[in-house]
Amino acid sequence: MPSSRQLLAALAAAAVPAVEGAMGPAFSTGPVASNSFIREATSTLILPKAPTGSSGDLSLWVGMGTSKGDLIQSIADNWQSSNWAIFAYTLLSTSATTQMPVQSDSTTAYPGDQITMHYKYDDSTGNYTQYVSINGNLVHTLSTSDGHALGFGSAVECAETNCGVVPAHTWINTVITMDVADPNYINTLGKGQGVTGDMVTGDGGKTWTVSKISIPGYDFSSGKIVTASSSSTTSTTTKTSTTSTKTTTTTATTSTATGTAAHWAQCGGKTPCLSPTREAC
Ligand SMILES: *[C@@H]1O[C@H](CO)[C@@H](O)[C@H](O)[C@H]1NC(C)=O
Repeated sequence: MPSSRQLLAALAAAAVPAVEGAMGPAFSTGPVASNSFIREATSTLILPKAPTGSSGDLSLWVGMGTSKGDLIQSIADNWQSSNWAIFAYTLLSTSATTQMPVQSDSTTAYPGDQITMHYKYDDSTGNYTQYVSINGNLVHTLSTSDGHALGFGSAVECAETNCGVVPAHTWINTVITMDVADPNYINTLGKGQGVTGDMVTGDGGKTWTVSKISIPGYDFSSGKIVTASSSSTTSTTTKTSTTSTKTTTTTATTSTATGTAAHWAQCGGKTPCLSPTREAC
């Protein structure tokens, strides 16, 4: 997946083939305890409006990095449109430094639509199957052989750095189900700047849920989150009241360094974190 600029700089000497991509703020977890893996995960994206000022390829997704170095990641993709293209997608690891994309057909969806990305391990095949639904209607499936999923997280990904301003958005009803309970999984949680969401378990760490993950708006041109907030100022002496809306920006801090949750959730556990080769639809 796209590396941070710092990481790209650090890797330049190693001549890693890397697309000049960028990542916005993320919710990341992983890796799981060594005696377990993620059997099943699901999350539902409420599609925001299309990015503004984008001339690039912007993807919103939740992904799972696996023991084979694959990345399972159904995608909501925007490319010079007011709508979104929805499809199932896996980056299959083909060597220590290369990955090959496999994907389903794509279906158009619109701001406000609910996109459910559901991943499930199938014991009979040893594959994971992606089930992608729009407003509860299954539209795509994809089965890939990936080993065992070791991390899970969200992403705001630009294939380059030209994706403009991506609106704030939410992922709801996230459920991560372990093979065997991992009570310490909470300690792997990483949240980028401005990201909120509480991960809880009611069964000792076998099932983890996050009712709502909120991802702030993000400006790819500045590399900063965008938070619109209202504040009202009332003056009792002049008996007038004014309301102002201010926009604040702060730098997102998603890290993809080896061993971090982001590394497992957004990079497929690859060392180094690879950039994608996905083409615009
Ligand atoms: C398992 O995944 C591989 C790709 O990694 C695919 O070729 C194969 O058809 C899948 N098996 C099933 C039963 O879908």
